[in-house]
Amino acid sequence: MACTTLAQFAASTNSTLVLSLNPCIDVEWRVQDVLWEEKNNVVSERRWAGGKGVNVARWLKHLGGHPLLLAPLGGGTGAELTTHLREENLPARIIRLSQPTRVNVLITTAGGKQLRFNPLGPRVSAKEWMGILRKTRRLLPKARLLILSGSLPRGLPKNAYALLTRLAHDFGVKTLLDCDGSAFAAAIKARPFLVKPNEHELAQWCGRPLRTEGHLIRAAHALSETTRGWVLVSRGPNPGFLVNATEGFQASALPPRVQARNRLGAGDALLAAVAHEIFQGSSPTQWLAAGLTTGSAATKLPAGCLPST
Ligand SMILES: Nc1ncnc2c1ncn2[C@@H]1O[C@H](COP(=O)(O)OP(=O)(O)OP(=O)(O)O)[C@@H](O)[C@H]1O
Ligand SMILES: [Mg+2]
Repeated sequence: MACTTLAQFAASTNSTLVLSLNPCIDVEWRVQDVLWEEKNNVVSERRWAGGKGVNVARWLKHLGGHPLLLAPLGGGTGAELTTHLREENLPARIIRLSQPTRVNVLITTAGGKQLRFNPLGPRVSAKEWMGILRKTRRLLPKARLLILSGSLPRGLPKNAYALLTRLAHDFGVKTLLDCDGSAFAAAIKARPFLVKPNEHELAQWCGRPLRTEGHLIRAAHALSETTRGWVLVSRGPNPGFLVNATEGFQASALPPRVQARNRLGAGDALLAAVAHEIFQGSSPTQWLAAGLTTGSAATKLPAGCLPST
């Protein structure tokens, strides 16, 4: 789908391409309490464009960056998501899918407890995946950074992020990766410029619990030796750290202390800030500081919302 904002992306050299391969409509239902075996009255409903890549693009634009979101969307929910992106003025390029975009449901009680339901989402056909690769290849020459964030939809090969990272290498574009499980394990072989696991994702990659800070730091170094790149480990309110084994770099910093009301998307806000600092040529210490500050800022806001400017 052509988009006026795409023209802006093409005109601005060295932008940031953000792939959101499994985006969703996020819906929040507020209820007094969850009652099993009873009718639960929904007090209010809020719907917005969600998914990790969408969150990253939203924060990057807020920080003054120039993201272009590339998202496969389908069905009525895909059309709704496109409308939300337009309303937010978030530059996007859409790839049409035959199956509908998923709707993730968040149920929040008056006491602040939350239930989350994430459906599997559409199955992407081999032909649609080829279309995603083709469009990525077409957009990479105008990009300086590629952000790969979130789970892979059904139908994509496990090494999808590895293929995209290698494609980015061909165009001299740096890849920032945030995903987990087998998609992560496959992708790091393609040596992304920076990966951002949280401590659980790092332990998952290691295949064992990482109980102390020393264990976490050693695991981050091992990961950095594999990617020969940067590894930023986020740990919620605890100190995050950034390492690069090749450069002999290691730094840690404490996120600002805040009254956190929501953790959904904190890692995405962090990644957006890191991308923005890299784009601007800041030092790695600044990547870490800006990332942690922005991640903490996101926890003070309702999911899907930005600070009012
Ligand atoms: N309770 C908190 N207090 C202060 N800052 C927080 C808190 N939780 C998260 N953050 C900030 O957000 C950043 C990312 O948080 P976290 O490590 O939970 O990411 P994540 O697990 O990848 O999140 P996501 O759900 O978006 O994937 C942290 O490094 C920190 O800066
Ligand atoms: Mg995360």
